[in-house]
Amino acid sequence: MDPLHLAIETAREAGALLLERVDGPLETRQKGARGDLVTIADRASETLIVERLLAGFPDSAILGEEGGTHAGTSGERWIVDPLDGTTNYAHGYPMYCVSIAYERAGEVLAGVIYAPRLGELFAAAKGRGATRNGAPIRVSAAGTLDDALVCTGFVPARYERNGANFARLSHLAQAVRRDGSAALDAAFVACGTFDAFWEFDLKAWDVAAGGLIVREAGGTVTAIDGSAYAVEGGSFLATNGAIHAAMRDALNRDD
Ligand code: IPD
Ligand code: CA
Ligand code: CA
Repeated sequence: MDPLHLAIETAREAGALLLERVDGPLETRQKGARGDLVTIADRASETLIVERLLAGFPDSAILGEEGGTHAGTSGERWIVDPLDGTTNYAHGYPMYCVSIAYERAGEVLAGVIYAPRLGELFAAAKGRGATRNGAPIRVSAAGTLDDALVCTGFVPARYERNGANFARLSHLAQAVRRDGSAALDAAFVACGTFDAFWEFDLKAWDVAAGGLIVREAGGTVTAIDGSAYAVEGGSFLATNGAIHAAMRDALNRDD
């Protein structure tokens, strides 16, 4: 079975589950730091995803945010965020999604981000380009920060770390957004809506699919300091390529 096909089918099914449950009861709980939420929909989505992925690829490993982690024997791994943007979901703000990535021998080869409330499905397979609802996408052509709409995020309880960057980019870019779903923020770089997205301290399930989709759409992905991007690295800067150096420089100043 084609992993991309399975990821798309599974993300659609999980997205439908999220929509069915959004009107609650959600039993929203604080998981770790203040602002780090989990609902019963996060868990139900992950249970469904793990079941579908293991039915198709019984020997693969799974890394799921809500504990749906399985060891595998085939050298393949699925990296799953069953609901990225839980706070948005719990408040009825439509920016939330399911993110599924497929990795073999440590390399992400397929990725899907599905935002059910928006009806947007972003997908990519290594070397085969990126799509939005089946149509090819490309990053934007913005060449300066002055013309750029950029987005960022703040990991719960570490807001200060990114505060100065937010203020600086508010002066340098056309505008800055904080939309609350790292995976979807990256997808909107891939399709050219955002010209850049950055965030510190992300997890593999936040970025694995988005990193591939941005690259396959012609964009550039590194750590925020410009060093090589790693799925487990935490630091994430995705841009249209043209403004990558300008973003890196703007995010690595001391003032
Ligand atoms: C969060 C979202 C948010 C980002 C946080 C993530 P979750 O994921 O992606 O935009 O700022 O860093 O933890 O908890 O909603 O899956
Ligand atoms: Ca997440
Ligand atoms: Ca999540």
